[in-house]
Amino acid sequence: MPAPDSQLEPPAQSFEAAALEHLTAAAVQAVAAAATAADLKAARAAHLGERSPLGLAGRAIGGLDPAERKTAGLRLGAARGLVADALAAREAELSAAELAARLAAERVDVSLPADLGPVGAPHPITALMEDLGDVFAAMGWEIAEGPEVEAEWMNFDALNIGPHHPARAASDTLFVAPAESRLVLRTHTSPVQVRSLLSRPLPVYIVCPGKVYRADEFDATHVPAFHQIEGLAVDEGLALGHLKGTLDHLAAVMFDGVRTRIRPSYFPFTEPSAEIDLECFVCHGASADDPSRPCRTCSSEGWIEWGGCGVVNPRVLAACGIDPERYSGFAFGMGVERTLMFRNGAADMRDMVEGDIRFSRALAGVAR
Ligand code: PHE
Repeated sequence: MPAPDSQLEPPAQSFEAAALEHLTAAAVQAVAAAATAADLKAARAAHLGERSPLGLAGRAIGGLDPAERKTAGLRLGAARGLVADALAAREAELSAAELAARLAAERVDVSLPADLGPVGAPHPITALMEDLGDVFAAMGWEIAEGPEVEAEWMNFDALNIGPHHPARAASDTLFVAPAESRLVLRTHTSPVQVRSLLSRPLPVYIVCPGKVYRADEFDATHVPAFHQIEGLAVDEGLALGHLKGTLDHLAAVMFDGVRTRIRPSYFPFTEPSAEIDLECFVCHGASADDPSRPCRTCSSEGWIEWGGCGVVNPRVLAACGIDPERYSGFAFGMGVERTLMFRNGAADMRDMVEGDIRFSRALAGVAR
C-alpha cells in the first residue's frame, strides 16, 4: 500500500541520516505492500520517481555547499540503492508468484482419457498379402513386382497364350485404348514370371502379390479388380514334387488343418498343369456326399478352387532365353480374396471393396 501523502513530503532538502532513513523505510514498506505489478509501478514512481522526495532531494544536491555535497550525495545514493534493491526483489517475487499462478491455472491432467480421433486399420487384403509374402521370404524367396498396365505380349504371348486363346476375348480382358497401344490391364500376375526371368540371374525364387483386372460381374464371388499371389521357382532339377511340397507348406501355414487337393488342369504356360483346391470352409465337404445339405459356397462340390499351378512350360523358359534342357521350374497363382474368404470366413467379396472400416477392424486382428 502506498505511503500516505504526509509521509511523502518530509523536508526534501534535509540530508540528515534520520530523514533519509525515514524516507527509505517508507519506500521499502510501500514496495513490500505492492501486491501487483501495477502497485509496484506506482510505488516506484512515488518513491524513486523524479517528483518523489528522494528524486527531489537529488536535484537539491546541486544547491548545496561543496563541503556538504559529498556526504549528502553518498547518503542519498545509499538510500536510493536500498529502495532500488527492494523494488528489484519485490519484482522478482511478484513475477515468480505470477508464473506459479499461471502454471497452476494451465495445469493439464495427463492421466485423463485422451479424445483420440478414429484410428484406421490395414485393409485385410493388404495384411494378408504381407503375410503370404512373409511365408515365402522365410524360405529365402524374393518379392517381385510388375506393372498393372501390362504389355499384351507379357500378359499373353510370352506365356504361350496364343492369339486365339479365349482369355484374350474382350469379355475377360480389359484393353487399354487405343488398340495400337497393345496394352492391357494385367489379367493375372503371371507376366511377372516373364519379367523376373528376363531380369534376374538364375536360379529364381520369387513371389509377386498384386492387383489384377478382369471384365467380371461385381457380385458376392467376383470383383473386377482383385488380387493374386504368383510364385515362380526356376532352378536345376525342380519338378512337380517340389511344387506340391511348397503348396502344402503354404496351406499348412495359412489354414490350420484345412485339406487341399490337386487335380489336373490346363494352362498354356505350365505343363503339366493343375488346379489346387481347398476344402469348402462352409460345409467342410459334407454337401458333396449328402444331397439333403446343399452348399451354395462350393456348389455342393465340397471343394473350392484356390489357384492354378504347374511345371513351367519349356516354351516359356525358351521365350525368356533360358535353356529348358538344363533348367526347370514350377509356378502357381492364387486368389488373395479367396484366401481371405477361407482363412477368415469372409463370405461376401463385396465387403472387401466397400472400404467399411468395421470390416477391416474385425479382420485386422485375425489376418495377422
Ligand atoms: N495365372 C493363372 C490364373 O490366373 C494361375 C496360374 C499361375 C496357373 C501360375 C499356373 C501357374 O488363373
